[in-house]
Amino acid sequence: MKEMQRIDEKIEQLRVRVKDSEDLKVWGDVFDVPTLKALYRLASKDIISAMGGVISTGKEANVFHAIGKEGELAIKIYKIVTSDFRAMQEYLTGDSRFKNIKHNKKDIVLAWARKELRNLSKAYEAGVRVPKPMVVERNVLVMEFIGKDEHPAPLLKDVAHEIKDPAELLAKIVDYMSILYNKSKLVHADLSEYNILYDGSPIFIDMGQSVTRDHPNAETFLLRDVKNIVKFFRKLGVECSDEEVVAKIR
Ligand SMILES: Nc1ncnc2c1ncn2[C@@H]1O[C@H](COP(=O)(O)OP(=O)(O)O)[C@@H](O)[C@H]1O
Ligand SMILES: [Mg+2]
Repeated sequence: MKEMQRIDEKIEQLRVRVKDSEDLKVWGDVFDVPTLKALYRLASKDIISAMGGVISTGKEANVFHAIGKEGELAIKIYKIVTSDFRAMQEYLTGDSRFKNIKHNKKDIVLAWARKELRNLSKAYEAGVRVPKPMVVERNVLVMEFIGKDEHPAPLLKDVAHEIKDPAELLAKIVDYMSILYNKSKLVHADLSEYNILYDGSPIFIDMGQSVTRDHPNAETFLLRDVKNIVKFFRKLGVECSDEEVVAKIR
C-alpha cells in the first residue's frame, strides 16, 4: 500500500493527463507497479516529461503519446500478463541474438521489447524510414512520434483511396524491404498495410517480431510480407506479382 502511494506520487510528478474514463481503464490495465517504476525511471532520466493519451490498445502492447525533451514521443508498453508469449516464442527461438533468454513469460516479453528496439535501430541506421527508436526501460519502448499535435499519422490501410501514385509508393516500400533484407539482414515478418504509417511517404512500424535472415523461417516470413503488400497494391490497380517483388528484394 505504502509503495502504491509512492508510485501514485511519482506518477503525479509525471503530470499524467487522464482524458476520460476510457483512458483510465487502459491506464489501470497496463500500469502495474513495475511498469509505473519503469515510467518513473524514464521521467527521472528526463526522457519523458509528460504522459499523454492512448494512441492504440492492442493484444500485446498499448501505445501512448508523450512529451520529451525534443518534442512528441510514442511510448509502446508491452503487456506481460495478457500477451501471447507462445506466439512470441516462435520468433525468438532461432534468432541467434536471443539464445540465452529464459523461457518464462516475463523474460520473453522483456526480450521482445529489446528486440523491437534493436530491429528499429538497425532499420533506422540502414535508411529505412521507421520511428527513431530511443530507449527501452523494462517493458517500455520509447520512440519518435510519427504525426503532429497528438494526432498520429494514419495507417496505410486507412488512406488507400488517397494515394496519388500507388505504383511509386509500392516501389518505395519494396525499396525499404530490400534495404531491410540486404543491409540490415532482417525480415519484418508482419508487414502489411496495418503496420505501415503514411504521411505522404511510408513509415514501417511494429518490428518486435522481425527476425534476422538466419532465422529458420525468415524466407517464409519474407514471402508472407511480399504477398500482403502485393495483394494490397493489386487492389489499388498496380500490376505486380509476388515473384517480381521477391526478385527485387533478393
Ligand atoms: N511511433 C509511432 N508514432 C505514431 N503512432 C504510432 C507509433 N507507433 C505505433 N503507433 C500507433 O499505434 C498502433 C499500434 O502500434 P504497433 O507497433 O503496430 O503495435 P501492435 O503490436 O499493437 O500492432 C499503430 O497502428 C499506430 O497507429
Ligand atoms: Mg501493429
